Amino acid sequence: MDIRFFPNNELLNTAAAGLIAHLLQAKPNAVLGLATGGTPVGIYEALIKLYEQQHIHFREAISFNLDEYVGLPETHDQSYHAYMQQHLFSQIDMPETSIHIPNGNAADLQAECSRYDSLLDKVKQIDLQILGLGHNGHIGFNEPDAGLVGGTHIVELKEETRLANARYFDSLDQVPTHAITMGIGTILKAKTILLVVRGADKAKIVHDALTGPITTENPASLLQTHPNLVVMLDAEAGVLFS
Ligand code: F6R
Repeated sequence: MDIRFFPNNELLNTAAAGLIAHLLQAKPNAVLGLATGGTPVGIYEALIKLYEQQHIHFREAISFNLDEYVGLPETHDQSYHAYMQQHLFSQIDMPETSIHIPNGNAADLQAECSRYDSLLDKVKQIDLQILGLGHNGHIGFNEPDAGLVGGTHIVELKEETRLANARYFDSLDQVPTHAITMGIGTILKAKTILLVVRGADKAKIVHDALTGPITTENPASLLQTHPNLVVMLDAEAGVLFS
């Protein structure tokens, strides 16, 4: 495990974007596993700058997003489809056909999970999976539970997750109750995982996840088993490691 600490968010964003850029330069057709939420926004901004300066391009790259809310129209500004358009895809040259995000509005959600898994099977392995961390240890929307699921599946969001995400909606009752998420098996199969954690409110959960017992009650703790895990922490999130 390679844990890196950053005194500020700008340096973290530059380092994370640099890692992704390095991969794209070495392997232009890399498969990227992408996350949404507050954590990666600055990383995507830094990546877009590298693209505009022509250090990288996305013409041959392929992307798979971790998750999407169930039942939120793709045009809703809080859907992860809209988020990805806004924060990354509208500003780079990745072909639309290379972009994959689960469809949370599919008539048959189980069939959608299978469809997503078969697309993932086709690429065999994600080269670099970017992860944020939930306050309860979730990665993707794999919530703490007595057991975890390997493949793409539908999940009922925990109250704490809905509360955390309510900041983006007008009220808590507008936050969807369910999501489709890539499973823990797919995440752990990625060649490299980049876990990014920011803020004092996540200092304990990230410390527990990376130094405590490996337990499905803290899904991120399973990352300890990954052979190529890079963790980037800002000063507040990394405070318990010193
Ligand atoms: C997002 C995702 C979630 C978030 C996590 C942290 O695609 O899968 O696991 O990474 O909830 O969210 P933020 O970054 O908003 O604190």
